[in-house]
Amino acid sequence: MYQIIQKERLNEIIYSMWIEAPEIASSVQPGQFTILMIKEKGERIPLTVADFNREKGLIRIVFQIAGKTTDELSTLEEGDKLFSFIGPLGRKTKIENHGTVVTVGGGTGIACIHPITRALKEVGNKVISIIGARSKELIIMEEELRKASSQLLVTTDDGSYGRKGFVTQVLKELLEQDKTIKKVWSIGPAIMMKVTCETTKSYPVDTIVSLNSVMVDGTGMCGSCRVTIGGETKFVCTDGPEFNGQLVNWEEFMHRLSRYQEAEKRSWDFYHELNRTCTCGRRQING
Ligand SMILES: Cc1cc2nc3c(=O)[nH]c(=O)nc-3n(C[C@H](O)[C@H](O)[C@H](O)COP(=O)(O)OP(=O)(O)OC[C@H]3O[C@@H](n4cnc5c(N)ncnc54)[C@H](O)[C@@H]3O)c2cc1C
Ligand code: FES
Repeated sequence: MYQIIQKERLNEIIYSMWIEAPEIASSVQPGQFTILMIKEKGERIPLTVADFNREKGLIRIVFQIAGKTTDELSTLEEGDKLFSFIGPLGRKTKIENHGTVVTVGGGTGIACIHPITRALKEVGNKVISIIGARSKELIIMEEELRKASSQLLVTTDDGSYGRKGFVTQVLKELLEQDKTIKKVWSIGPAIMMKVTCETTKSYPVDTIVSLNSVMVDGTGMCGSCRVTIGGETKFVCTDGPEFNGQLVNWEEFMHRLSRYQEAEKRSWDFYHELNRTCTCGRRQING
């Protein structure tokens, strides 16, 4: 169970893995996520379902090396097994035909927006997707997104590929040009989702964001993923991860995202010190 069937390095820092998980694959819906543990004493990390194959019982995760656990995960190979892989978690995306919609993905958010984009197109929407990253080599899953959407626009911050600039600049132009756009989904770094909401605020469109709060149990028990939405306390793991972006208290959300930074840095330094002293040839993952 939870065997890594296929592993691919998408670029320097982002990996894709297909995991054998027939129970999750049989019921997962776009917008939902999983929580995995590499080993019994490891950390639990949430990762969005980037794709699924119900017939083969497979789930695809796409992750960026952000710290210790994602770095350890990147060292696993095809045939290795995860200690646990729980899901599907969170509420599914509400997929309806609105006419014209826009999906925006930044960084690994491109992978997260993929199944949502595909499902929105399947029910008849005209889906315009905007994907962006810092530079060309960080753009992932371009072909999958091109296939999943009606039109794909690509941006890079440094102009090394597609349009130079941020996804939100292209979004603003679209909103000016096409008054039929009814709804926007935005998934990516917190700052990108916040700016998306600032961009859409003066237009008559609903804006949905998928919040990546720090999670522990993923079942609504620990309170770690607490956010304030329209003045009310919500848990991202059970009430989300999708919320109306205009109602998110962004200041609090971004502050809570960084609250473990010191501990994460200590864990990262310790893990790398262990690897530096390891002479076994394969990076050790017992930290
Ligand atoms: C619902 C959800 C879906 C996500 N989907 C993806 C995805 O598809 N691909 C992807 O690359 N990343 C995704 N993330 C973020 C991913 O979970 C973190 O990058 C990962 O947990 C980092 O762990 P680490 O030990 O490698 O890094 P650490 O050094 O522990 O942390 C690096 C940063 O990652 C975040 N983080 C750390 N621990 C957690 C945690 N337990 N829960 C959530 N965030 C944490 C924090 O912002 C932290 O500053 C998602 C997060 C959530 C909440
Ligand atoms: S992760 Fe514990 S309440 Fe959401």
